Amino acid sequence: MLTVMNLKKQYRHRTSEPGAGVMGISFDVPERAFFTLLGPSGCGKTTTLRCIAGLEEPDSGRIIIRGDEVYNSDTGRITPVNERGIGMVFQSYAVWPHMTVFENAAFPLRVAKRRRYSGKEIANRVKAVLEMVGLGGFEKRPSTMLSGGQQQRLAVARALVHQPTLLLLDEPLSNLDAALRHQMRSELKRLQKDTGVTTVYVTHDQSEALAISDTVAVMSKGLIVQVGNPTEIYNRPNTEFVAGFIGTINLLRGRLETDVNVPGIGAVETRLGPVHCSFMTSAKAGREIAMVCRPEDIVLVRADSTQASQLPKVNLFQGVVVESLFAGETTEYVIEMEGTCIRVHSRFDSALVAGKQVFIQMSPDRMVAIVEEGQYAQLSDDHRRTGT
Ligand SMILES: Nc1ncnc2c1ncn2[C@@H]1O[C@H](COP(=O)(O)OP(=O)(O)OP(=O)(O)O)[C@@H](O)[C@H]1O
Ligand SMILES: [Mg+2]
Repeated sequence: MLTVMNLKKQYRHRTSEPGAGVMGISFDVPERAFFTLLGPSGCGKTTTLRCIAGLEEPDSGRIIIRGDEVYNSDTGRITPVNERGIGMVFQSYAVWPHMTVFENAAFPLRVAKRRRYSGKEIANRVKAVLEMVGLGGFEKRPSTMLSGGQQQRLAVARALVHQPTLLLLDEPLSNLDAALRHQMRSELKRLQKDTGVTTVYVTHDQSEALAISDTVAVMSKGLIVQVGNPTEIYNRPNTEFVAGFIGTINLLRGRLETDVNVPGIGAVETRLGPVHCSFMTSAKAGREIAMVCRPEDIVLVRADSTQASQLPKVNLFQGVVVESLFAGETTEYVIEMEGTCIRVHSRFDSALVAGKQVFIQMSPDRMVAIVEEGQYAQLSDDHRRTGT
């Protein structure tokens, strides 16, 4: 439904930071899919969306929407915004304050260039789309007399009213409070599934991206670092950057002992001793390896408990509790082993106080090796240096 090939757009304003924009990205969005661009502020998400919409002229690349080439830098083809069949909700939501709910939603039909809509047709379409977003009966209300969430829904209704081929949503929930964001998240997902409209969604909120998307593309500094479904992105990050950006991680470093062919388990020599972990890319013995493990994937037991003797011996380490932070559903424990601190999320255990001896065990399947290459290694190095 949407193909973006080698899209480049560099901003060259005198105040722009070097490399600002997008530096050559490619991705495909199948029909009816919910595709999310996820990344930190300034990584190029809005730039990408604006290029797809035709609001920004790229430097180079190709963009194809439902078989129509809307942009090609080689042939010079550029289809204007209003001929691309796109519905868009912008980062800071804009409903027109001087218009009623009805007129806001009807606006795209009134100004449509591709065809004329009769008054009756406009009334029918607006009614249907307002019902769909839960604003049925609000037609006559001035749009300023809506709550934040309702205004957001109105912006979505307006983007859907002309039945776009492609829906582009740029952080549409960013102005809402946490509870409403949560609710709107499920509503958006339902709406997208009901209408079947192919959607490109932009957010810097990782939990939102994981919850709502069929496919997530993680961006950093104008590049796509990893594309996958939410569980792949979460469980099999391909760089330290992705691992760290999507939730809390533990990071261990070491040197690979023997060659590994993928997919497979390899042993990495660390200051704690050998650690077994899963490899997604083949690697040669002697390579420096980073390993990541989620705090909730680590088993924690008291050293003096009977469970301790039943734990698998692989990736089993003894340590001491240095901190415990009660957070309701789980408790975050910080465990120190040979000067290395590991975070573990576990059920609250009142006996696990600071100073207590414990064992931790990490399944090799849940310990992911990262063999970084070329630009991606550089990328995550930069992020480490800047502490992001
Ligand atoms: N019109 C512009 N002129 C010059 N530089 C720009 C312009 N728009 C964006 N940039 C720069 O390009 C980079 C990417 O911006 P973009 O708006 O795409 O980021 P983003 O990923 O959407 O970030 P956010 O999450 O903060 O919205 C940033 O460094 C930004 O400062
Ligand atoms: Mg943005």
